[in-house]
Amino acid sequence: MESVDKLREELLAAVEAAADLDALEQVRVAALGKKGRITDQMKGLGGLDPDRRREAGQALNALKDAVAEALDARKAAMEGAALDARLAEERIDVTLPARPEETGRIHPISQVIDEIVAVLGDMGFAIAEGPDVEDDWHNFTALNIPPDHPARQEHDTFYLPSADENDGEQGRMVLRTHTSPVQIRTMQAGPPPYRVIVPGRTYRCDYDATHSPMFHQVEGLLVDEKTHMGHLKGCLIDFCRAFFGMDDLPVRFRPSYFPFTEPSAEVDIGCTRAGGELKIGGGDWLEVLGAGMVNPNVLRNCGVDPDKYQGFAFGMGVERMAMLKYGVPDLRTFYESDLRWLRHYGFAALDVPTLTGGLNR
Ligand code: PHE
Repeated sequence: MESVDKLREELLAAVEAAADLDALEQVRVAALGKKGRITDQMKGLGGLDPDRRREAGQALNALKDAVAEALDARKAAMEGAALDARLAEERIDVTLPARPEETGRIHPISQVIDEIVAVLGDMGFAIAEGPDVEDDWHNFTALNIPPDHPARQEHDTFYLPSADENDGEQGRMVLRTHTSPVQIRTMQAGPPPYRVIVPGRTYRCDYDATHSPMFHQVEGLLVDEKTHMGHLKGCLIDFCRAFFGMDDLPVRFRPSYFPFTEPSAEVDIGCTRAGGELKIGGGDWLEVLGAGMVNPNVLRNCGVDPDKYQGFAFGMGVERMAMLKYGVPDLRTFYESDLRWLRHYGFAALDVPTLTGGLNR
């Protein structure tokens, strides 16, 4: 048998001399592998007499442990050095400017809804929602729109088969023609007071430069015990001036008719039409909103006592507001998904509109 001391010296020297992890692995195999030198020596133990065997066995086991330990230590040192080298080499310069990335844009419809919600939210209105597929009762009847009203004609409206044939006329389903049915749903859901706005999609059988079969509205409803026409006027004058960012924007109320409001008004803002170009502000007039005091019949249809409660409602077209504020000439372009158009008319993604942050840029 080889001298254990000599073997130890030799193997530990080989461990120290290994230049990299591969070389170290070779040293391990040559010492501790199946045909390694220590393994060989172990196999030779069988031929010794018992006393010699015990002594040599202990010495070999100690050698085996020492070599394994040295291998581990050297391996850890090599790995540590490799990591240090990588860390030293792979530096990141955090002061480099970011590479310009393709950024998405907010669609003007979303932007304008956010702006309308920011102004009215600041006044204390909460957002309410309702389904796009409505029943005839919520969309028409409850809003005091009688069965023979022209708005119910097939060519104005998208009707759908009713869920249950036995429902009859009242249960007939329709793509809501305005956001006003959410007035009804809000009032049915609990007792007054109500102070909600309803941004959402609406549908009508129309298609030209200023109409599309799907468009967006924002409805408003405020019902309380002492609400009067003065509140309606103040609220909508403030709204128009804040939304268009013009403190002295002229706003006027023109008598009108809606079945669900009495009295009803159309709201006009000042504009100028010079050389075919429309500008906000000035002595000419442009209609932007429908409004009125909630018709007592509507309150009654929702179980609200009209002798105790009264309020106002209003509705506006989002596309129209967007076209006026941001100078979009053709309504149809809103839905063409043309990225060049969106890059021109769209808005920066994290630029959330608030009254304090400013709605106008
Ligand atoms: N729903 C009406 C429309 O779509 C707008 C409106 C809402 C008018 C509320 C008055 C009150 O034309």
